[in-house]
Amino acid sequence: MAQPEAHAQAYLDPGTPEEQSRRTFMVNAVLTLGGVITLAIAVPVLTSLVPAADAVGNAWSPLTPDEWAALQKATSKPIKVTFTLHQVDGYLPPEDDAEFVWAVKANEADFKAKRPDLFEGSTKIPYPLVYLGFTIFSPICPHLGCRFSWVDAQNKFICPCHGSEFTNIGTHIAGPAPRGLDPLPLRAVNGKAELTWIEYKQNTPDHIVLRIG
Ligand code: FES
Repeated sequence: MAQPEAHAQAYLDPGTPEEQSRRTFMVNAVLTLGGVITLAIAVPVLTSLVPAADAVGNAWSPLTPDEWAALQKATSKPIKVTFTLHQVDGYLPPEDDAEFVWAVKANEADFKAKRPDLFEGSTKIPYPLVYLGFTIFSPICPHLGCRFSWVDAQNKFICPCHGSEFTNIGTHIAGPAPRGLDPLPLRAVNGKAELTWIEYKQNTPDHIVLRIG
């Protein structure tokens, strides 16, 4: 019957100074090792959450001389311009993908009169909509994201998915799309034309910019 008390005593016994110091050393060693492991896991995870310094807004894609020559052939009839899109999203390595946009010759005053949706209301597009005499349209349908095409025979853009239709300057004329076509930025730097990409929110009446570059 005296045994339980002896065990209890053993637990309460703080031990010799050497035993105490060994125990303290072991506890500290375990805590230090835990801290090192936590840091080893946390640092790469936290680093991956910080966008690269040259992220959003800096991913301009230069057009080759041939691509620029193709773009300059646009008249009031839109022309498809293929190019290599340089994309940087800050979380993944930069990517170069084959892409295309639609270019149309435009006069700023005329464009403003025909596309008031791009200049009024809550729309705030942070770049010139007519540059070097051209307007560029994203190839993504503002309804649900399909790719529309210019149909010469009907003189309009037509989306194959749900039949939305747009004029040559992107005014919405038929189908379920809630707005006209979305513009993309064009600029000239050191004698080279450059394009960048904008992701717009789909299926909303306003042109809401989600991501640039
Ligand atoms: S995605 Fe173009 S009409 Fe629906």
